[in-house]
Amino acid sequence: MEDAVRIDPWSSEQSTDYARIRDQFGLQSVDLKRVPNPSMLHRRGIIFAHRDLDVIVGCMERSDPFGVLTGLMPSGRMHLGHSMVIEQVRWFQEQGADITVTVADLEALATRGTSLGQGRETALKEYVHNYAALGLDPSSTNVYFQSGRPEVQRLAFTLGRRTNLSEFEAIYGFKGETNLAHVQAPLVQVGDIIHPQLEEFGGLRPIVVPVGFDQDPHLRLTRGIAGKTHWFNVKARKAGGLTVSLSLQEGNSEALGVSENGKVDRQVRENIFERLKASLSTMGYSDFTANPKHGTLDIPGANISDIAQVRMCVLRLERELGGMGLMPPSSTYHRFAVGMTGDKMSSSKPETTIFMDDSLEEMSKKVKRAFSGGQPTVEEHRRLGGDCSKDVAFQYLQFFFEPDDSELSRVAREYESGKLLAGEIKQICIDRAAEWLTELADKRDMWEGRLDEFLAPDAK
Ligand code: TRP
Repeated sequence: MEDAVRIDPWSSEQSTDYARIRDQFGLQSVDLKRVPNPSMLHRRGIIFAHRDLDVIVGCMERSDPFGVLTGLMPSGRMHLGHSMVIEQVRWFQEQGADITVTVADLEALATRGTSLGQGRETALKEYVHNYAALGLDPSSTNVYFQSGRPEVQRLAFTLGRRTNLSEFEAIYGFKGETNLAHVQAPLVQVGDIIHPQLEEFGGLRPIVVPVGFDQDPHLRLTRGIAGKTHWFNVKARKAGGLTVSLSLQEGNSEALGVSENGKVDRQVRENIFERLKASLSTMGYSDFTANPKHGTLDIPGANISDIAQVRMCVLRLERELGGMGLMPPSSTYHRFAVGMTGDKMSSSKPETTIFMDDSLEEMSKKVKRAFSGGQPTVEEHRRLGGDCSKDVAFQYLQFFFEPDDSELSRVAREYESGKLLAGEIKQICIDRAAEWLTELADKRDMWEGRLDEFLAPDAK
């Protein structure tokens, strides 16, 4: 058997065997037909996988509220690789999402030794300023700092009770010598991802987290933990429909009708089931088979595609009864663009990427030196054509700079047929990138001194 892929969220080395990653971690493929107003990243297959994106698409279709949570590590300079998540965030915002942006200043402190002051400065100057320039709408965007939001840290502790060191070892490969500050960082990230659902931050609603798949371990952890807090499980029923079943655990047995002696209190239990049925009947269901003693309620007429709405319904009831009522987060995953040199993009190697504030000269120099998919001689190139799958200039047009699909396919066709030479495709990339960077710089100027508009009250 082939070795399993291990994903390390803190390493810059990542596998790019996307099909294998998708299968190994049980990610779902993106069905373009199901995505309303697909963005360029969707249309080009750059967003290659997701977990429960259908929950979010359902919200879009019904105009139900949903949120996006994204986070940034405030260290280094912002480059093209970082912009892909923000493109997605902007797209979700256009489809109706509210946006929460985490500045992971505690994580940067824990894993990179960045002071909180330095983290704040980098976050605002490098990241928030560019997020504004990339088109996020401040009226529904809230940027906060991990260190400045006690609710997030409180959740890290509360939810930390639902996991243990063995799980951390399995997910992250942590060992005995792992620094404990580093061990805390994922729990704070769980708090980041969950907290927009707290009443004071918008209340119960589905939250989607767009990430590169290097962040998936955090999503697996968060989804697992959210599931463990549930008072009601919702599952497909073998004979059709759905089954809601009670999940008894520390802290809810009394509320769910288990007396101290372990006996089921029929009165309390019946009452819970009446409330369950009343809640679910607001969704239009009327045919129930209840077994209060065993703690199960069958809804034979429920459609499996309604599972997320049924879950939301029982989570609402769970909150009324005193539980946390947490919807597991959805997520989407994008491919990484190749580095300009043909290897991986990395902020510590400036020649591998374009920074958001690179000058046009710097950019142009990098594109001219970029890894090419052209043939060694013009003669061969005319005969054999270029290879778009290896050509950095082409890929940067595809990932970042050429929004027009038909223009992109024209370039691909002409490059592959040998009509366009390697130097010519680079020049096209340089022209497009120059427009892109210039517009971004103009927008940055526009937002100069106004970044406060993006900050949550606790971040000012
Ligand atoms: N760990 C992320 C990084 O390395 C930063 C981050 C913190 C984050 N909390 C988050 C990302 C929540 C997405 C969601 O960049």
